[in-house]
Amino acid sequence: MIADSPEGAHETASFGFEDVPRAEKAQRVHGVFARVARRYDLMNDAMSGGLHRLWKDEAVAKLNPQPGEFFLDVAGGTGDIARRIAGRTERLRRRRGGAAARIAIVDINEGMLRAGRARGADALSWVCADAEKLPFSNAAADGYTIAFGIRNCTDIDAVLREARRTLRPGGRFVCLEFSRLAIGGLSPVYDFYSFRIIPLIGKAVAQDEESYRYLVESIRRFPEQEDFAGMMRAAGFARVNYRNLAGGVVALHWGWAL
Ligand SMILES: C[S@@+](CC[C@H](N)C(=O)[O-])C[C@H]1O[C@@H](n2cnc3c(N)ncnc32)[C@H](O)[C@@H]1O
Repeated sequence: MIADSPEGAHETASFGFEDVPRAEKAQRVHGVFARVARRYDLMNDAMSGGLHRLWKDEAVAKLNPQPGEFFLDVAGGTGDIARRIAGRTERLRRRRGGAAARIAIVDINEGMLRAGRARGADALSWVCADAEKLPFSNAAADGYTIAFGIRNCTDIDAVLREARRTLRPGGRFVCLEFSRLAIGGLSPVYDFYSFRIIPLIGKAVAQDEESYRYLVESIRRFPEQEDFAGMMRAAGFARVNYRNLAGGVVALHWGWAL
């Protein structure tokens, strides 16, 4: 989402709790992930107590990937989602035969891709590109995933339009993102954990308190479940729906390109 201005000259985007010029957001987000890339996977486990693994499993189960299909894992970072797609489709392929699935991990940050490749490249391809301008033709993909990535992008509507453009008719879109707590009574605990504990874990594990402060703040600026579902519909997705995970700490959103 971008703040409108008649001339388009003063467009801003949120960087955590700050509003910054559009071009500056992309640079600052790039800086955050360049700094955390080497410790990124470790930090995910430290911050979520391993829960991110279950959330990613659920996202890939919702995608229902099949052998022979082509997938884009956008803002894919070190490739957690892509590896799950590869593992699941390979198990199916061994039982049923057919071609291997192809999976492209697309991320704007070469450092994140490098950290992912270092974990083993398997049959994955790694593409350094912006989610707002994907280097893939119309209707190229059977499935599109974006996990904990879209809130870091400057223009969320543009990302959704690109997802819709690159999916074939019948293609599936699945998004995991931090969202709004559905259980109001838990807010004080969640706030304390988010604003006090996570930056401290960031300092201890990644020697980077500021980057994790940004990540926590960016969650609060991201549209809540119903609003994001509306943005998906506006981008042309059909059968849009979502499910809260961990009481709305995270939401799993999905839709079809029909
Ligand atoms: C929190 S990480 C998520 C990584 C991975 N999907 C996961 O779930 O572990 C967010 C990723 O979004 C990437 N990113 C931010 N803005 C982007 C953009 N405009 N286009 C593509 N990737 C972007 C960052 O470089 C980073 O790797």
